[in-house]
Amino acid sequence: MKLSQSALLAFAAAVLAAPSPTTLEQPAKRAAGCSSAVTLDASTNIWKKYTLHPNSFYRKEVEDAVKQLSDSSLADAAAKVADVGSFLWLDTIENIGKLEPALEDVPCENILGLVIYDLPGRDCAAKASNGELKVGEISKYKTQYIDKIVSILKAHPNTAFALVIEPDSLPNLVTNSDLTTCKNSASGYRDGVAYALKNLNLPNVIMYMDAGHGGWLGWDANLKPGAQELAKAYTSAGKPKQLRGISTNVAGWNAWDLSPGEFSTKSDAKYNSCQNEKTYITKFGDALKTAGMPNHAIVDTGRNGVTGLRAEWGDWCNVNGAGFGVRPTADTGSDLADAFVWVKPGGESDGTSDSSATRYDSFCGKSDAYKPSPEAGTWNQAYFEMLLKNAVPSF
Ligand code: BGC
Repeated sequence: MKLSQSALLAFAAAVLAAPSPTTLEQPAKRAAGCSSAVTLDASTNIWKKYTLHPNSFYRKEVEDAVKQLSDSSLADAAAKVADVGSFLWLDTIENIGKLEPALEDVPCENILGLVIYDLPGRDCAAKASNGELKVGEISKYKTQYIDKIVSILKAHPNTAFALVIEPDSLPNLVTNSDLTTCKNSASGYRDGVAYALKNLNLPNVIMYMDAGHGGWLGWDANLKPGAQELAKAYTSAGKPKQLRGISTNVAGWNAWDLSPGEFSTKSDAKYNSCQNEKTYITKFGDALKTAGMPNHAIVDTGRNGVTGLRAEWGDWCNVNGAGFGVRPTADTGSDLADAFVWVKPGGESDGTSDSSATRYDSFCGKSDAYKPSPEAGTWNQAYFEMLLKNAVPSF
């Protein structure tokens, strides 16, 4: 082949400029966040624009699980779970350390979901998720937990964040205020949630306050007091602009729009018109509006693929037979529901079934609870495989 001199020069330049084979083999590293500051408009559904990020911690848990599958025919399906967006739980002061690594691979079109979960006297009506802070340690909650998270979120203005604020806390004050533990936790919960809302109110953050689920605050007698309790926190926080509404069904099992609902044949069903989450967010949403609080919702569909498994509506621990549910999407068919999201990382336990453990809760020993199960938040490989096999839609 005869080449002209200019063609030769062009050829040499191309060879010099060509990436070496090693460069080619390296995965493209995505820049974290956007090229400029993110502003989330809480008067709109931001989930139409942003995709829930498949966070690297859950990805790692799932990738490890794929290596340990008891049934290798599940491998392809299991690997796909790593690509599903899910929330990262900041459930201890130490676990705030997960935040910076987790935001390293968030592309501009994604939003990183975080669960704020460390109130003093946490999980006051149960034992499985009792936290590290004791009743009264509210100043530690503020300065060593919330303030630390605030400063990290402020330092990353080019990344979008979605926050679920303190699952189960205010709902417990509405329905379990007769328990000494919840009585003792009450002022810290109210103060702590308001402090979190006020200080995490940043332009790159959208917030949802937790509102339990239809089988909890959906009872006729609970709708109004529930909405008032949440609205009070919103008002004491100075009506933060970035609060969009509520999260529901977090770590829960309720169907989105099953009708008639799962528990509608129970004798007490007449006292609860919110037999599915769609009805719940509508009725509770009305009550919130009356109470003066923003009322859009995100709904956890991580583990609600299979229904008809619970003996009682209130059974919350590692429900046996469960399957992954609908993948995160802003396509909910409801103006009030911003998105279906995965908040509870499917495969992480709700609580230990070891009756000798300090945090053993009898709900985790019930006949409809999967056993054996490890401590809350730790991985249960067998449970993950069950969720996968029973996923609706399937993977
Ligand atoms: C646990 C947390 C955990 C979360 C997500 C909660 O039940 O108490 O420690 O991070 O579930 O799995």
